[in-house]
Amino acid sequence: MSVLFPKWSNAFPTVFAIAALGGATAAIGGFWYYATPKFWRVGYMPTQPGGGFNHQIHAGKLGMDCRYCHTKVEKSYEANIPNVATCFGCHADGKLNKLAEGTETFSPTHKAKTQFVRDAYAQDASIPWRRVHKVPDYVHNFPHHVHVAAGVSCYSCHGRIDTMPIVHHAEPMSMGWCLECHRAPEKVVVPVDKVTDLRWVQDDLTKRANAGVMTPAAQKVLDAIQKAPPENCGACHY
Ligand code: HEC
Ligand code: HEC
Ligand code: HEC
Ligand code: HEC
Ligand code: HEC
Repeated sequence: MSVLFPKWSNAFPTVFAIAALGGATAAIGGFWYYATPKFWRVGYMPTQPGGGFNHQIHAGKLGMDCRYCHTKVEKSYEANIPNVATCFGCHADGKLNKLAEGTETFSPTHKAKTQFVRDAYAQDASIPWRRVHKVPDYVHNFPHHVHVAAGVSCYSCHGRIDTMPIVHHAEPMSMGWCLECHRAPEKVVVPVDKVTDLRWVQDDLTKRANAGVMTPAAQKVLDAIQKAPPENCGACHY
């Protein structure tokens, strides 16, 4: 026995176990590093009150502009979520029925589905929407308005919201993701009056990517950006 397995081989299991553990740690660490945070949030879709606010219906089918509800996105750092009064403007009892007589909207099902809006309004409560997109607190500077004013469309950061029955995370929103665009803004800028027309933007950006050229309109927007998008740490972290 001792001929086949010299004494020092007794250490094998231990060494092997340590090595395996180290390997596993490295594997988990590697997964953690590479798979997060770049990929883990894509697809994130929390359960929302009332079954979720349907952008596909409101922004898609009904064609409402994003700024009808996200009123501050051009003016402030934060894009706001609309309050119940905005919803109540259309979903007050009977109101939509008058507008929608003879259509599928004019139905008890619709009334039931939108009841949570009237309930919240009657109680002077807000609807507890769950936040989907959030950069960590140590990222002190994410100005929505600067991006929108520079001709970066909601599409480039949030995807085709107008086709989503329930909003999900379309982009990783990691640091690498921010920087990738900051290094090549020419790939995404569009005329400022088009930023909320997501279908148009998707078509235009796809065409541009395939042809590998800028449109004159996009070139004009790019020229108008005074400073290059920042890559220095302080710009986003202070
Ligand atoms: C009729 C009002 C309304 C319109 C129009 C609207 N939204 Fe929203 N939006 C909401 C409400 C309410 C929420 C919160 C519920 C949710 O997250 O699904 C929301 C959530 C969002 C979120 C996720 C917020 C988070 O928690 O991270 C994004 C992104 C967004 N909207 C983008 C858009 C874009 C882009 C458009 C235009 C194509 C648009 N919205 C049009 C009402 C609206
Ligand atoms: C400009 C008018 C308007 C505003 C503002 C509006 N809605 Fe609507 N909403 C509609 C119409 C019209 C429909 C029905 C569309 C259809 O059935 O095709 C609808 C449908 C709905 C439905 C039913 C969805 C389904 O699956 O059938 C819900 C829930 C709803 N809205 C919630 C909200 C909430 C919450 C807000 C505020 C953030 C809001 N709406 C703001 C016009 C509006
Ligand atoms: C350059 C990328 C970018 C663009 C362009 C952009 N967003 Fe955002 N959006 C973000 C990021 C990042 C967050 C998370 C911000 C945070 O945590 O402070 C966010 C958050 C939001 C939220 C949630 C705010 C809250 O307080 O819950 C809404 C709503 C929203 N965006 C709507 C829009 C709309 C509408 C547009 C187009 C007019 C738009 N965004 C354009 C990156 C972008
Ligand atoms: C799809 C493209 C795109 C993405 C993604 C993007 N940015 Fe930007 N960002 C820009 C452009 C273009 C500018 C230049 C705007 C200007 O100076 O007018 C800019 C400018 C900025 C500025 C400078 C604002 C100022 O006042 O000059 C900050 C800060 C910033 N971005 C933070 C972020 C952060 C944080 C993220 C990721 C969460 C991000 N950006 C993601 C395109 C993008
Ligand atoms: C354009 C904006 C932007 C710039 C410039 C930037 N960061 Fe970040 N940084 C971010 C965002 C956004 C996150 C959060 C990523 C996430 O949520 O996963 C982040 C995360 C981090 C983290 C946390 C670890 C990680 O990778 O998630 C560190 C450390 C960091 N940044 C350091 C730096 C340093 C050092 C620089 C300069 C070389 C820098 N950042 C420049 C936007 C930026």
